[in-house]
Amino acid sequence: MTILKASTGPQFARIMSVGSATPSRVIPNEFLLQYIDSSDEWITQRTGIKERRWIAEDENIKTLSLTAARSAIERSGIAVDQIDAVILSTISHYHQTPALAPQLATELGIPDAAAYDISAACAGFSYGLAQAESFIRSGQARHVLLIAGETISEITDLTDRGTAFLFGDGAGAVVVGPSETNGIGPVVWGSDGSQAGAIWQTRSWQEAVAEGTWPKLGMDGRAVFKWATSFIARAAKECLDQAGITPEELDVFIPHQANDRITDTLLRYLKLPENVVVARTIRQLGNNSAATIPMAMDALLTSGEAKSGQTALIIGFGAGLVYAGQVITLP
Ligand code: ACO
Repeated sequence: MTILKASTGPQFARIMSVGSATPSRVIPNEFLLQYIDSSDEWITQRTGIKERRWIAEDENIKTLSLTAARSAIERSGIAVDQIDAVILSTISHYHQTPALAPQLATELGIPDAAAYDISAACAGFSYGLAQAESFIRSGQARHVLLIAGETISEITDLTDRGTAFLFGDGAGAVVVGPSETNGIGPVVWGSDGSQAGAIWQTRSWQEAVAEGTWPKLGMDGRAVFKWATSFIARAAKECLDQAGITPEELDVFIPHQANDRITDTLLRYLKLPENVVVARTIRQLGNNSAATIPMAMDALLTSGEAKSGQTALIIGFGAGLVYAGQVITLP
């Protein structure tokens, strides 16, 4: 039998840097009241959201992703030719093929990178991080640029009382590289395809073409809320257990920003100490799907609420249904 060589890499990986991009249009709750029978009070009380950012005419998923990626690369201090793979996590890119990641890599001046898109909705950042960490530790890539970019406003049904107010646009990016100590704990992830109808594209592309309509995002909010506050709470606990840490050893909690009340329930379940810094970017940014976690990470580090080197729990969940989370060391 012919023996094949296997690649080998460093023992550990870490997030070296994070960057993000928020679009320029601020959309307060009041703006949506021309489309849905609702109120600023109801939206704030039921979700925590006061406003969100939507793309203006000169902005799109590509411009946001490039801005976030450039910031992350600059902050990492590495040259672009040290990046071997570019992963874009998104459910907003217009083209089923080609993927957007190769075009981003080329525009960023990264020569000959492996580049592809992944579709794991609001769990997309943690899905991508699990891949990036494995690529580093197996020696398949020296550094990985992981970008999460979303423009959900383009598939939001403004007349749907259950979703019109939830989503915002944006992008976040991280550079993942080798480390002397472990900076990315084991991923806890999974899916439940029997709940494909809980969050879905309202029309398949075939139906949309036949009807001449644009597909939107539909959601059974109550079903997702129930799943997030029960199953996802247990998965978040599993992330801590897999990383071998207790709630007392955690500094920062960055759950997917789907609803402040979901975050509150997760906090109670995990029994996190009061000094743990908790991401609440939903209040100003809404739910940014895959981009939520890196955007919140950058916001907390930039504001000084969280510090480099601190230990953070991240967990995302959404359409699929899919979920993924890890304990990480903040860049
Ligand atoms: N404005 C005012 N009232 C409303 C609105 C609205 N926009 N929508 C519903 N209501 C009313 C309902 O009619 C109902 O009234 P009733 O009690 O008189 O019948 C009441 O408010 C409660 O309705 P619910 O649908 O039970 O509202 P809920 O408290 O569940 O909040 C929400 C809805 C915010 C969508 C919540 O279910 C939620 O956050 N779900 C989870 C979303 C999520 O996690 N998504 C995952 C990620 S998405 C992705 O993957 C892309």
